[in-house]
Amino acid sequence: MTKQPEAIYLKDYQVPAFLIDHTELRFELEASRTLVKARLTMRCNPDSHQKTRVLELQGDKALRLCRVSVNDQVLNEQDYKRHDQGLEISHVPDEFILETVVEIDPDQNTALEGLYRSDGIYCTQCEAEGFRRITFYLDRPDVMSIFSTTIEADKTAYPVMLSNGNPVAQGEADDGRHWITWEDPHPKPAYLFALVAGDLKRVEDQYTTSGGRDVALHIYAANKDLNKLDYAMQSLKNAMRWDEEVYGREYDLDIFMIVAVDFFNMGAMENKGLNVFNTSCVLASPDTTTDLGFQRVEGVVAHEYFHNWSGNRVTCRDWFQLSLKEGFTVFRDSEFSADLNSPTVKRVEDVTVLRTAQFAEDAGPMAHPILPASFIEIANFYTMTIYEKGAEVVRMIHTLLGADAFRQGSDLYFSRHDGQAVTTEDFVKAMEDASGRDLTQFRNWYHQAGTPVLAVSDEFDAASQTYRLTVAQSCPATPGQAIKAAYHIPVAIGLLDSEGEDLVLPNGKTTQVLELHDSEQTFEFTGITEKPVPSLLRGFSAPVKLHYPYTRDNLTFLMSHDSDGFNRWEAAQKLAVNILQALIEDFQHGRELVLDSQLGDAFKVVLANVDLDKAMVAKVLSLPSEAYISELSDVIDVDAIHTVRQFVRQQLALQLEAEFVASYQACTLEDIYSPDAASIARRSLRNVCLSYLMETGKQDFLELALKQFHEANNMTDSQAALYIVVHSGYQKAGEVILDQFYQRWSDEPLVVNQWLSVQASNPQAGVLTHVEALMNHEAFNMRNPNKVRSLIASFCAQNPVNFHAIDGSGYRFLADQIIVLNKLNPQIASRLVTPLTRWKRYSADRQGLMRKELQRITDSGDLSRDVFEVVSKSLA
Ligand code: PHE
Ligand code: ZN
Repeated sequence: MTKQPEAIYLKDYQVPAFLIDHTELRFELEASRTLVKARLTMRCNPDSHQKTRVLELQGDKALRLCRVSVNDQVLNEQDYKRHDQGLEISHVPDEFILETVVEIDPDQNTALEGLYRSDGIYCTQCEAEGFRRITFYLDRPDVMSIFSTTIEADKTAYPVMLSNGNPVAQGEADDGRHWITWEDPHPKPAYLFALVAGDLKRVEDQYTTSGGRDVALHIYAANKDLNKLDYAMQSLKNAMRWDEEVYGREYDLDIFMIVAVDFFNMGAMENKGLNVFNTSCVLASPDTTTDLGFQRVEGVVAHEYFHNWSGNRVTCRDWFQLSLKEGFTVFRDSEFSADLNSPTVKRVEDVTVLRTAQFAEDAGPMAHPILPASFIEIANFYTMTIYEKGAEVVRMIHTLLGADAFRQGSDLYFSRHDGQAVTTEDFVKAMEDASGRDLTQFRNWYHQAGTPVLAVSDEFDAASQTYRLTVAQSCPATPGQAIKAAYHIPVAIGLLDSEGEDLVLPNGKTTQVLELHDSEQTFEFTGITEKPVPSLLRGFSAPVKLHYPYTRDNLTFLMSHDSDGFNRWEAAQKLAVNILQALIEDFQHGRELVLDSQLGDAFKVVLANVDLDKAMVAKVLSLPSEAYISELSDVIDVDAIHTVRQFVRQQLALQLEAEFVASYQACTLEDIYSPDAASIARRSLRNVCLSYLMETGKQDFLELALKQFHEANNMTDSQAALYIVVHSGYQKAGEVILDQFYQRWSDEPLVVNQWLSVQASNPQAGVLTHVEALMNHEAFNMRNPNKVRSLIASFCAQNPVNFHAIDGSGYRFLADQIIVLNKLNPQIASRLVTPLTRWKRYSADRQGLMRKELQRITDSGDLSRDVFEVVSKSLA
């Protein structure tokens, strides 16, 4: 029996006993036998109370230790202890030089943490605890050091060799090898270290900061992808400008580099001066990339760039503080994307993700506060909660303080803590100090998990012309937290008169932020002459579930009149949810499904309004996803949800066929593709119309879709047509174009990934057999996380009816894959478990089947910490 992994606790945090002032690394890169020589200038930490002489370094068990010396004295085996997690050296002096030589094998590294090879390119991934797979070190973010890195490798295979900072020397070595030394002047924790070596090509540009620093911008990729880097470059320059204008943050080195690699566990990584990107988040071209892909590139490039301040210059004290950098940086990148495109569309997209995936997480066995109190494996905490809820919490501070005070707060935070490793508490304190606001109660958002629920009721008293809104808050229990203290919640509201005009509120404006502190609170508005319709939680001012007894008429009224664009969309969502839920009940009771015309009529009004942003029209017309309806259900009835949603789509298609045709035709296409907001909006509305038209089952529309597939001059339109045809159950036509699509794009891995995921998410019966066959296709590779996500994760998370097949086949399939991946790539394996962890939300028969598979994973033995944590917590 191997020992069960143990949790570590925030309350046990201690400052490091030793510090590393300088880190000099030398890499001799060689397939399967790479030498890493480290020379660390170390000393006792004067701030530490542990007066210890024992130096404990982290180091993965795969490190082969060749040599260790302290102050040039080679140590014998009795001077140190090598154990599974590291190295213990007894009796070190106050100040010393520690030198180690280790051997590692990048080619055996399938976990993609530490140093590995991605399609012949050496690269590293050190966040969170990957540096210990490269060398023995104090691998914790509060140990910050100045790095100097020398790389030596074969010149032909690895002409480009990169690390953080600036290149300071280079030369030739024996046997056709060459070397280069990079120096990074900014002290940094090991998780921000990076090294890349390979046959890479680059595009170059240049940026002059507001302070006059000339910065060289280099984006590297494989030669064949060189034509797909322009959009990332433009996005980078936009992000650099925006961070100067909005946050007063300038770049701080003479060179900024991005490298694209195909094997990557996450989206991208903010290593100092050398960001490493998943190809899926940096490559973009009209032929191969959808609008969504372009937007992702823009957002992720900005996100990683923004980390240079929110994460690198000011970093995290420990990994419990992860949301300090991630929540803040997601908030920053979403404001950036909102500013450059459409703020309302961006808000709708963010809220949709939050309410679907994060709310589900917050209601499940892995629920945790944005500042967790404990974890077993930190890699499991790169979650929707840390990122997206974390961003919402920062957004609420922004809402409470206002833009100006928030900026003063962020300025104070950056200046007070520049070069430090700090806590979320330091962030909140800076916001308080700069604004004079008291955020004591607000801090509950950091410590409590779960999604708060607001129940709103109102009353109007005509005699005293008084309108009262009563808001009650509660928060469901989450693992380890039965009782929750009341939150401080900003609730932005407006009041509409019967004409649909905004009333002027006590603050003199038409939107006012009510601050909720108590478990129940009443807000009074006087001088009101008729009962208003409240527009609640405008812009989704807090990550909560809000209930108010809106009638369907209220909702259609808000859909056309609310001055808050977000809430117009929200009214449409609420109306659709309301109708879908009622029909789901009908379905469950065997009653005939009948859709009255109210939703269609409301949609008709929206389609006819030429003043509306087409992107918003598309969003309003898109029914809430099956995943969102599931999240709102007490017991998730997969089949009822799917059948009813399809039924409603079909009814709407029949009712609005003429309107959909007209809108489809009105959204004319440009000859030249452009990923600007207006063009994206036209394409999205056009494709929503097409998808409805296909529901009519009419041959004409199949032909229209096929025509679009063949004639499209961009990936968005051709892929949308492919998706629509395949998912509408035209099996023959679907097979033909799937084949054509693959033939055309087999050289473009990112397009092939889309091809895999269109098939894996197909709700038609029998798809699992097809998915299993695709696992043996040349296009699939279990070692490449993008392939695993496109095929396996798409099937398990994007195909509810097939994944939850009542014979348990979907669950069995997933467990089989997790057992394999647990050994190859624990991080990816553990992420894949998610759909099984939600077993409590389903009916008893499915619960039993899902638990059985979780148990089978447990029994398969030798679980990684990653998978162990998720599986054991979800069975607890
Ligand atoms: N820190 C990365 C980000 O920008 C995410 C990441 C985490 C990447 C861990 C790799 C490994 O969000
Ligand atoms: Zn990040």
